[in-house]
Amino acid sequence: MCGIVGYTGAQQAAPILLEGLTNLEYRGYDSAGIAVINNKQILVSKVTGRIANLCERTNDGKSCPGTVGIGHTRWATHGAPTDTNAHPHMSNNGKFAVVHNGIIENYMNLREELINNGYHFESQTDTEVVVHLIEMYYNGDIKKAVKRTLARLEGSYALGVICADEPEKIYVAREASPLILGIGIGENFFASDVTALVQYTRNVIYLDDGEFAEITPESIKIFDCAGQQIKKKINHINWDIQAAEKGGYEHFMLKEIMEQPRAVKATISPRIKDNEIVLDETDLSVDYLKNIKKIVITACGSAYYAGCAGKHAIEKLCKIPVQVELASELRYSDPLIDERTLLLVISQSGETADTIAAMKECKRRGAKTLAIVNVVGSTIANLADHVLYTWAGPEIAVATTKGYTTQLAVLYLFALHAAKKLNRIDEQRYDNLLKVIKTLPKRIQEVIDMNPSIPKLAKKYHKHSSMFFIGRNTDYAIALEGALKMKEISYIHAESYAAGELKHGTIALIDEHQPVIALCCNDSVMEKTMSNIVEVKARGAEVLAVTFRNNQKIVSLADDVIFIPQVEPLFSAVVEIIPLQLLAYYVAKENGCDIDKPKNLAKSVTVE
Ligand code: G6P
Repeated sequence: MCGIVGYTGAQQAAPILLEGLTNLEYRGYDSAGIAVINNKQILVSKVTGRIANLCERTNDGKSCPGTVGIGHTRWATHGAPTDTNAHPHMSNNGKFAVVHNGIIENYMNLREELINNGYHFESQTDTEVVVHLIEMYYNGDIKKAVKRTLARLEGSYALGVICADEPEKIYVAREASPLILGIGIGENFFASDVTALVQYTRNVIYLDDGEFAEITPESIKIFDCAGQQIKKKINHINWDIQAAEKGGYEHFMLKEIMEQPRAVKATISPRIKDNEIVLDETDLSVDYLKNIKKIVITACGSAYYAGCAGKHAIEKLCKIPVQVELASELRYSDPLIDERTLLLVISQSGETADTIAAMKECKRRGAKTLAIVNVVGSTIANLADHVLYTWAGPEIAVATTKGYTTQLAVLYLFALHAAKKLNRIDEQRYDNLLKVIKTLPKRIQEVIDMNPSIPKLAKKYHKHSSMFFIGRNTDYAIALEGALKMKEISYIHAESYAAGELKHGTIALIDEHQPVIALCCNDSVMEKTMSNIVEVKARGAEVLAVTFRNNQKIVSLADDVIFIPQVEPLFSAVVEIIPLQLLAYYVAKENGCDIDKPKNLAKSVTVE
């Protein structure tokens, strides 16, 4: 995720900005930049790559003199990672510079409007509209210009704005993207998180959504969206830097689990306009979709399991056969793929060697490729005919969480969108399912809030050396990912099994030493899975069931129950996986494992 930082005071700003950005490096980024006001002029320096390059370019900040400035590390979303797309962005008249975290969802319309008003754009970013709007609305009062600009923005933002005509002030604003103000003596700061500031001050104010602020060396004034000044509490930070990087969480994995409501929302909401899914990034025509014989999904690891869950949604809604293939198998399988196959390639990193090879092989055979990728400008994104990005932000823990759930979110959008294009769904069902997709971020938050006792369950189950995860249909797809999470971070053997298949051999292994995690969130097969619970209980297994709130029948069958909110089964994976991620996390913690960097595993597997 991008990082932002700003300073106004008596010291040279650039070295403080560079230091702050260095402390934000852990968030992941592909380019960086700073802007400093010097003699009523804004000096900007930005580079692709590491902050070390920016330090070199600016001679550790010495070539950017001035005591007010803003800085940014960019994780590319709109537009490739280039010097031009790096922040800060400047207004055409050179008077304003802006840094931004988040996504301006209505930037296309604003861009068109600004171009019609004579503004020209340097970059491909969504952010650049902000700085031109401020220039357009400025007539001597920056506060007014910022307020009017904010009223035009849809989406998420943490913004920092400087103005050459009002050189001591920085304006900042927040909507659905973190922003804090740091209080010093004769100097003040802002940043996207406390890591950037703890070495300068531990007194901070958290801005809330809809608020904006004016920062000078001597004062901080905070306003609500109507422009009325408001009072805010000052918080004292006593975290060390390492804890600050993790937002106060003990591990990146837990932080990333908790970020899922926001990540899924960032992935979904820019693609829903006027109650319609808009996938501008793909121009798969109705004729093309009608003409394909099948969809093949290929990926590795959790991305493959996201494909397994997505298959149900695509097949049910679009009535197109979907085959899900491990990339490492597909590439050597002489696959039956031709120009009437649409290949969906799923990858968080966009750099997985087997996935790239499978994709190249399928392209060679004529398939059109649609990639679902988290890293802009990655190899898979570049190779694909079309890309739908997951806007999860950088994932640091090796075991994926928000990467996986945002992949599911994109698959759901694609399934429902294609079904509508193909006329295979009626208006009413389309509207209902779209409503379900829109509420998924809320449901994820609910499932987190509903389950404070998962650490307690982990204390009960962590001693076992082996577990089974069972489910049917969509529940089985989630069992696959749930078991993988448990294996990769806790090192406990975990086997996922289609519940109906247990009796064909594997049930011989079930006894009191094998707990069974039973997923029961799909009404159409609920009774069947409950019979399987009875079977394993009869053989001595302890059962931990995951089911919908109010499914009281299971309470009398299982030893423990995790409840989740009721969600249409086609889209439930994104909610149902959350307690399994948390269970794996707390079990691994009980077992003293290195959760963020499990042994023998790599975040991005770039070798065969
Ligand atoms: C590695 C990671 C997994 C990930 C898989 C595929 O094994 O540890 O978490 O699911 O690679 O990675 P990708 O970047 O292609 O999604």
